[in-house]
Amino acid sequence: MSKAIVRNTIFESVICLSVILVYCTILQGQTKQKSFLTYDTKAKEILEKMTLEEKIGQMVQPDYASMRDKNDIQKYFVGSVLMGGGSDPRAGNSLEAWTDLYDNAQRLAMGTRLGIPLIFGIDAVHGHSNIEGAVIFPHNIGLGCTGDSDLVEEIGKITAYEMKATGIQWTFAPCVTVVRDERWGRTYEGFSEEPKISSLLGAASVRGLQGDNLSNPLSVAACAKHYIADGGTTAVERQGRGGGMPAFNFGGEGLTNTRGVRVSLNAGNCEFDEATLRAIHLPPYKDAVDAGVATIMPSYSSWNGVKCSASKFLLTDLLKDELGFEGFLISDYSAIDQINRNFKEGIATSINAGMDMAMEPSRYAEFCTLLKELVDEGTVPMSRIDDAVTRILRVKIAMGLFDENRSQLADRNLHDKFGCDEHRQVARKAVRESLVLLQNNNKVLPIAKNAKRIHVAGVNGDNIGNQCGGWTVQWQGASGNVTTGGTTILQAIKNSVSSETQVTYSSDGSDVEGADVAIVFIGEERPYAEGSGDTGDLSLNAQQVEMVSKIKNSGVPVVAVIISGRPMIIGDILEKADAIVAAWYPGTEGQGVADVLLGDYKPTGKLSFTWPKSMDQLPINVGDADYEPLYKYGFGLSY
Ligand code: BGC
Repeated sequence: MSKAIVRNTIFESVICLSVILVYCTILQGQTKQKSFLTYDTKAKEILEKMTLEEKIGQMVQPDYASMRDKNDIQKYFVGSVLMGGGSDPRAGNSLEAWTDLYDNAQRLAMGTRLGIPLIFGIDAVHGHSNIEGAVIFPHNIGLGCTGDSDLVEEIGKITAYEMKATGIQWTFAPCVTVVRDERWGRTYEGFSEEPKISSLLGAASVRGLQGDNLSNPLSVAACAKHYIADGGTTAVERQGRGGGMPAFNFGGEGLTNTRGVRVSLNAGNCEFDEATLRAIHLPPYKDAVDAGVATIMPSYSSWNGVKCSASKFLLTDLLKDELGFEGFLISDYSAIDQINRNFKEGIATSINAGMDMAMEPSRYAEFCTLLKELVDEGTVPMSRIDDAVTRILRVKIAMGLFDENRSQLADRNLHDKFGCDEHRQVARKAVRESLVLLQNNNKVLPIAKNAKRIHVAGVNGDNIGNQCGGWTVQWQGASGNVTTGGTTILQAIKNSVSSETQVTYSSDGSDVEGADVAIVFIGEERPYAEGSGDTGDLSLNAQQVEMVSKIKNSGVPVVAVIISGRPMIIGDILEKADAIVAAWYPGTEGQGVADVLLGDYKPTGKLSFTWPKSMDQLPINVGDADYEPLYKYGFGLSY
């Protein structure tokens, strides 16, 4: 080859490489936020003007509902507030009341000496789920079974829109947990038992919520949680405040150890090595960071006896230094209180480990005083405070909170599309894609729309609260049809059938005789959240089994639809039901369930969790040595 040819080839390769590089940069620009470090010059300018009290104020997050005197926002220069699960504005739970509440809090913050706007946090974990009338999407477990990242991104966008209608700009979502034990009460908050799906859908959710540009008026800041391995714990005894367990008193059936002592998986301990931590639980955080996630919430739980919120290795070395996380860390609700019986020591440990903002619902004033003392004494270095505040400010700047030509109050023009049909149609699509068909003997599904009579049975068939699950309007969710708007599955079935078809209903399966088919709704009948959902028994309750048996014995074919936050032990139902469908917690759009049962759409969902045969198989996960579940990870039939 001549020199000229070599030179030309090199020249062409250089041009080609440059084109690829430019193309990649453009592509990256479309999918990834700008580096948060871009905003550091401005962040430093603001930082230089701040007193220590003002800096500490940026690092604390009270619960707005728990603040007896709202003027504390000014007194303590508070940089962020949250409204925890179930906290409603005094004026009620309407869109208007929430928007007024946000505006009032923001006005107070902007009335301080430096006028630094608040970042307002909420658990919009399946839609803007605290606010009545918002669209409620399926919980993550159902989305995991769709495997559809475009859909999850779209859901993030709609959630961000509905949040912004109230002014609120920060959600404690997505939960990117990798759930290894479905006795855990938060199983439904996770996409999967495998890192692959949690990573894919977690990153999609971050992109949807944050958009291409965090300063877009329709974007909100996301928060990947709960870092790390919250779904990989072994249950530990619950010891009350200061002893390492959540300070509040959980109800529910709970989980006990062999000595009959109440134990918690929610704030449990992970007992495995670093290689396992990295292989199973770290990937979703790496992908969330790569997608530009603005914030991350460390978990209540521990890794080999050290609380995540107290671990410098986890917070600083691994997350910030190794993964390159540039945003800020927000502690979980009162989590710092649980590190040490001595609150002050707990604060020092956590902030020095790398925590940037403390969610201190009601102890915020004490937190501010103690952190100032710790800095004055030299226990917490000023450089750590400056780093934390710089991180918080850079996120706020990226969000456009300092844009002079833009109001930081809510844009009430967005109210028009809050809970609108267009948003509900996306939720309906998500519901039908999330259903997993587990059994379909004699092709009993799909049900003919012109059947003479369809009998619907079971409380979960006519119950918006039960089909939404926890974190819906209230922290624990609530049973009943008064919780929020939407379509019950019973109503959806009525909407879908022909005008000649009769749809009858009984909560207990009575009056089924003579029906062509019965759709029987079973599963979990009491919504729950967090520790109150920890349980040692996932069997269907005796009344449900009895109901299915009775219907089957009457000669009517049975379609069993399981409404639940996790795989359940279905026992005899396997023989009694002709068809079995896992519908998870579909949310407000029950129509998506009818779409599949009545044949408008074929089932496409695949299990993102292993479905066990019996409780003694738990915990069970794909890849285990003796893997003989009832339905394997990835299973799902169609018509
Ligand atoms: C939960 C978090 C939630 C926080 C704020 C905690 O109890 O663990 O997931 O974001 O409360 O409501």
